[in-house]
Amino acid sequence: MLHFGMTSSPVRPGAIVVLDFGGQYAHLLARRVRECGAYAEIREPEISADDLREAAGIILSGGPQSVYDEAAPQGDPCLFDLGLPVLGICYGLQWMVKTLGGEVRGGAVKEYGKARVNMVSKLGASTFTAWMSHGDEVVRVPQGFACTATSDACVHAAVEDPVRQFFGVQFHPEVVHTEQGRDILKAFVGQCDTTPWSLEEFLPKIEKQIRDEVGDRSVFMLVSGGVDSTVAFALLNRVLGPGRVQGLLVDTGLMRQGEIAEVVSALSAIGFDNLMMEDASRIFFQKLKGIYDPEEKRKVIGDTFIEVQQQVSRTYNLSPATYLLGQGTIYPDTIESGGTKHADKIKTHHNRVALVEKMIEEGRVIEPLKDLYKDEVRMLGKAIGLPHELVWRHPFPGPGLGVRILCSPRSFVSHPTKGALPILMPHAVLPINSVGVQGDGRSYRKAVALFPGRSPLQYTEMHWKEFWELATEIPNRFTEVNRTVLSLSHQQPVSFFVSNFDVCRDRADLLREADVLVHQALRLGGLYEQLWQCPVVLLPMGTSAGGQSIVLRPVTSQEAMTAQATSFPNSVLMRIKDSLLRITGIDAVFLDLTSKPPGTIEWE
Ligand code: XMP
Repeated sequence: MLHFGMTSSPVRPGAIVVLDFGGQYAHLLARRVRECGAYAEIREPEISADDLREAAGIILSGGPQSVYDEAAPQGDPCLFDLGLPVLGICYGLQWMVKTLGGEVRGGAVKEYGKARVNMVSKLGASTFTAWMSHGDEVVRVPQGFACTATSDACVHAAVEDPVRQFFGVQFHPEVVHTEQGRDILKAFVGQCDTTPWSLEEFLPKIEKQIRDEVGDRSVFMLVSGGVDSTVAFALLNRVLGPGRVQGLLVDTGLMRQGEIAEVVSALSAIGFDNLMMEDASRIFFQKLKGIYDPEEKRKVIGDTFIEVQQQVSRTYNLSPATYLLGQGTIYPDTIESGGTKHADKIKTHHNRVALVEKMIEEGRVIEPLKDLYKDEVRMLGKAIGLPHELVWRHPFPGPGLGVRILCSPRSFVSHPTKGALPILMPHAVLPINSVGVQGDGRSYRKAVALFPGRSPLQYTEMHWKEFWELATEIPNRFTEVNRTVLSLSHQQPVSFFVSNFDVCRDRADLLREADVLVHQALRLGGLYEQLWQCPVVLLPMGTSAGGQSIVLRPVTSQEAMTAQATSFPNSVLMRIKDSLLRITGIDAVFLDLTSKPPGTIEWE
């Protein structure tokens, strides 16, 4: 027996509510709704119809299961009695049809990828290419419904009950590959009596929420130096006044060169002097000693942040009864940490470790940006008057260089195997695993390095075309691989010495040196502003015993849920490679060619 709404709370009046039946698409739907100018909220499907009463409309998201699976997620059937427009997508459509008395069956033809759809509906009329991903399909519509679109393999590609305003599409209107997708969503939003969403309207709401949540308490805010926590800190200061906000910038030893000084001086330049700095690098390195596993590293770093914060609170007598913990968590952090019920855990963000989860449950944490995406956070930062350089800095992960210093619990030599994969270009499967995101789930797999037999200066357009094609093909074809990199320093496969390394101060210093060098070159070449980010990664392997390698990871992105790998002009690559090789201890340099998915932006 399911009990709906056991732990839910009412949605915001006028919101379009996306019920998240799993997968990573609910967030995209919410984004698209906001792009249409309406406020969107994501909720678990188990929310009670009662808590949905004030919504303007409901979107039932897709999900990986079949409606007939035993553990298939269920919504509250009473939501169809609220008189609200409902749009079901893929699984959401099938669950709606089944719940309202229609029939869903295993499709005769499974449809994955692009399909031509012919649609005549209140949500639009045209023939277009849509992105499908389903095995089951609707075979009989419930009473009151009509079929409004078909595709070659799917009779009921869309259905609707125009009287009750119930719509369902088998394809995914939220992905860019569906040509009319945004128009269809816009037409659905147009059917709903929504609350407008714009930053100007949202800002006073966040401010009110901060005042309500904090009450007469104060906030002790962990500032990590990244864009999000800086904007959150500034916002709290603006609403509560500096007297009720204390910022703490923890030097973990894993920051980029000069980062601490930059953040402190940028914030004090705009009048925030309530930020103290604690050098906790010794304790971070102590705790990271002998830790090799990426998730372990994240947990240790996250826990140590809280320990340091608690210790500082004690020193300054900041009682938990009068101080909330402030964090700069944004929406994707929650999703990727498996923070919504049906999403897989890609990684534990430092602001979502068990200690913090417990404090959240106890109502001791405030996260003013937790519903926003990075680009929205930046708009907010601009709106409250933060300087351009601060708002447009490349994102820097909370765990800092800790997720860019890869480790190995043992030392060994890896010799290249000729023709390891059935591809023509000389290559080697590197003896290093990194984190990726594939099929909505986490992966931890090997990288393949391409050795094109020439130096970066000699790459032609045709070579680049081949590199990018291989970068897509390799992880798709070979399941043991989630990344493809290009060797910039070596033209033919060589043996690699992997050394037993954890995260320590020397390696952090080495990576800092490489990172400064790369970022200086990017600024000089006018490339910095064109990128979302360019993580510089340190691998515990080189061409000599104890030697290490650097990977350049330039990407473009809009909100980091997906990202496109990119590169630089040959001359810039060559210059960066040469200067990195001059650093003692670095003897190989690679360029990461992998988009997200299948590789995450960070290597971990
Ligand atoms: P991934 O590696 O998941 O990164 O593709 C997506 C974006 O998030 C940043 N990132 C983090 N930011 N805390 C943060 O505040 C974290 O634990 C964290 N991990 C990754 C990453 O740099 C990229 O911009």
